[in-house]
Amino acid sequence: MASEAHTIVGRATELETVRAFVDSIDRGPAALLISGEAGVGKSIVWREGLRLARDRGCEVQQCRPVESEGHLAFTALSDLLTDVPPSAFDSLPAPQRRALDVALLRAEPDGDEMLPRAVGLAVLGVLRELSIAEPLVIAIDDAHWLDQASRRVLAFAIRRLSHERVGLFVASRADTGEGFLDEIEDADIHVTHLRLGPLQSDELTALLRSRFGDGLTRASVSKLEDTSGGNPMFALHIGRALIERGESSDDSELPIPDSLVELVAERLDGLGNAIAAVQAAAVLSRPCVSLITGLLGPAGEAAVRVAADAECFRSMAIG
Ligand SMILES: Nc1ncnc2c1ncn2[C@@H]1O[C@H](COP(=O)(O)OP(=O)(O)OP(=O)(O)O)[C@@H](O)[C@H]1O
Ligand SMILES: [Mg+2]
Repeated sequence: MASEAHTIVGRATELETVRAFVDSIDRGPAALLISGEAGVGKSIVWREGLRLARDRGCEVQQCRPVESEGHLAFTALSDLLTDVPPSAFDSLPAPQRRALDVALLRAEPDGDEMLPRAVGLAVLGVLRELSIAEPLVIAIDDAHWLDQASRRVLAFAIRRLSHERVGLFVASRADTGEGFLDEIEDADIHVTHLRLGPLQSDELTALLRSRFGDGLTRASVSKLEDTSGGNPMFALHIGRALIERGESSDDSELPIPDSLVELVAERLDGLGNAIAAVQAAAVLSRPCVSLITGLLGPAGEAAVRVAADAECFRSMAIG
């Protein structure tokens, strides 16, 4: 579903932030991180951002890492540089050029250990070269699945930008950490954090109507708004299941499709030990951070922090 090209509904303020970010690249390096829970609409805003950037004359290089390739070194970097013209590599010093070629599997390793620093410097050189003619946007969706080797060299290069017209445009799930952004935190570039919350109820209605027309009754739409908590992916999954079931849900339970069950299971998996903090909060009549932390012992503080970052407490009144 994530790859379908659909018109974006709402998100006017967020798109204004994206626009401001794109415009700012002309003045020097900048980064924009879009974060939020699974299915909240990061990718659609990210894709809209790429369109805006191209419309404004930026050069865009992008990659969308996936979980199954997260252990394959330099996969994301290789995707990111796929469309870069060969001339952008011409001015690299020979050791950097060679290191990058080996990393991208364009040259045989010569037996020596490959120097990540050489690859990082080569990437920096390429970014500089590409940003001379036009402002450059390095766009990464699902940055939480970046392979470690790519993440390191990209962070290495980005930390060394000073005046270049390079914008880093990243979308990442909040519940899988923001490691990449942590690595460039000390860089001399302006970083904006855009946290996506749920869609407003009128936006969700517009979304459901745009996808399903009159296939859903007004009562179903209103039920979906409640059940999904404004998460468009959840609303679309359940809405589609309702239509496939071919019955009005006015009086019946909403169907929970397998795809949604898998999504929730994936989210629970991603929480690891922090699940204990969520369980504790769920059974306490008046949950509060200090009580949950105390109950969980030494690991409590970290567990509460991970659960809070993953917005697991959003629907609970935590004191
Ligand atoms: N504002 C919106 N307008 C129209 N469709 C939307 C909007 N937000 C989300 N959607 C739709 O909801 C679904 C989920 O959105 P999207 O894939 O962007 O979520 P995501 O946050 O990137 O999810 P994930 O964490 O799984 O990558 C997609 O089908 C997308 O087209
Ligand atoms: Mg996405």
